[in-house]
Formats: sequence, structure tokens, C-alpha cells
Amino acid sequence: MADSKLVMEVLKRIGEKIEEKKEYLTELDQPIGDSDHGINLARGFGEVEKKLPTLEEKDLGTIMKTVGMTLVSTVGGASGPLYGSAFMKIGMAWGGKMEISMEEILAGMDVAVEAVKQRGKSTVEEATMLDAMVPALNAMRTAAEEGLEKKEVLEAGCRASWAGAEHTKDLVATKGRASYVGERGLGHQDPGATSFSFMLEMVKDSL
Ligand SMILES: Nc1ncnc2c1ncn2[C@@H]1O[C@H](COP(=O)(O)OP(=O)(O)OP(=O)(O)O)[C@@H](O)[C@H]1O
Ligand SMILES: [Mg+2]
Repeated sequence: MADSKLVMEVLKRIGEKIEEKKEYLTELDQPIGDSDHGINLARGFGEVEKKLPTLEEKDLGTIMKTVGMTLVSTVGGASGPLYGSAFMKIGMAWGGKMEISMEEILAGMDVAVEAVKQRGKSTVEEATMLDAMVPALNAMRTAAEEGLEKKEVLEAGCRASWAGAEHTKDLVATKGRASYVGERGLGHQDPGATSFSFMLEMVKDSL
């Protein structure tokens, strides 16, 4: 369903989207954090883009592991190690593969969610990126089980991801910097849940 060329195209488009939404993500991080989420991620994906030419012909495991290591070493903050370990775990799940099926995409998302939970000592309903990731994965699983086309599976995932990001406005954050503002964070959308939704949207648009 997706080969390494396509996955590299997705990574490139994620970088472009994050760059385009850099200010917006940083604005979201202002009331509940330290106004750096967009800047952090744009820097990281900028470095990823520089590495893409060295990854041509490589297997998907190597590509995703390289992305993860690059994000860990360049993004910083909380989201660097979180997204970094998520991509590294996906790389481990896709080791040696030159092509992946929808089932393998779902398996990759599953290990990514587990990586964030473990690394962040967090779970859903804590106003983090997990509030977009988990509903997105669940919706995609359901859609795939119903036998829907890949486009529809990704559309269902994106809808659930954005609904989950929206729902973080109703949650009091208990993890990360946003937990410092407590109830004052109500009404604000989590930057990480938003950046994840943009990433998934680029997957949908590229497949
Ligand atoms: N423990 C956690 N588990 C899951 N996601 C988290 C956790 N802590 C933070 N996040 C996510 O990271 C996003 C913030 O990322 P950002 O790059 O702004 O890091 P930061 O909070 O500024 O880090 P630091 O406080 O270390 O500078 C949040 O919006 C949230 O989605
Ligand atoms: Mg921040």
C-alpha cells in the first residue's frame, strides 16, 4: 500500500505543513505552555528533510528510526522525546520492510501510542497529543475492520483526530507544562494534539 518513496513524500509534506503552521502551533502553546511547540517541531522536521536524500533506497525501518533519532536530538522540550520515540518504535515495527499494508500502518500507530504513553507516563483525557492519537487509531481500526477503502480509513482517522484535539479544550491538563496552569488551561486546544492532527492529515493527503 505504501512504499518507502511514498513514506518519504509523506515526511516531506509533514515538514512543509509544520513549517506552514509553525506560528499557529506556537500560539496554541502560549496560554498553556512556553510558546515553542511550533518552533521546536519545525526545527526538527527541517533537519529530517535534510536527511531524506540520504535515505533513498533504504527500508522503512531505517527511515523511521532515522526520523525518530533526528527528532529526539533536534526538537527538544517534551514533544521531541515523545514524537522521537514514537517514530523510532514505528521504525522497529517496520524493520526491513520496503512496503507496508494498512494493517502495518495501524500496527505502527499502535506502537507509537504505546511509546508516547510510556515515555510521557500519560494516558488519554490528560490534554496531550494522546487525545488525538488514540481516537484516530481507534477510528481507523474500526473503519479498516468494516472493510473501507484506505482513503476512507484515513478520513475517519483525521476526523477523530481533530475531534480529539478539539476535546482537549474541555480537559484540565495533568501532564507536561500545561499542567502548571491547571483550570486556566480550559478552553485552550492542546498544541501536541493539533500537531499530530496536521501530521495525520498529510498522511491522508499523500496516500
Ligand atoms: N507527559 C506527556 N505525555 C504526552 N504528551 C505530552 C506530555 N507532556 C507534553 N506532551 C505534549 O507535548 C506538547 C508540548 O510540546 P512542546 O514541544 O511545547 O514541549 P514543552 O511542553 O514546551 O516542553 P518543556 O516543558 O520540556 O520545554 C503538549 O501540547 C502535549 O501534547
Ligand atoms: Mg512548549
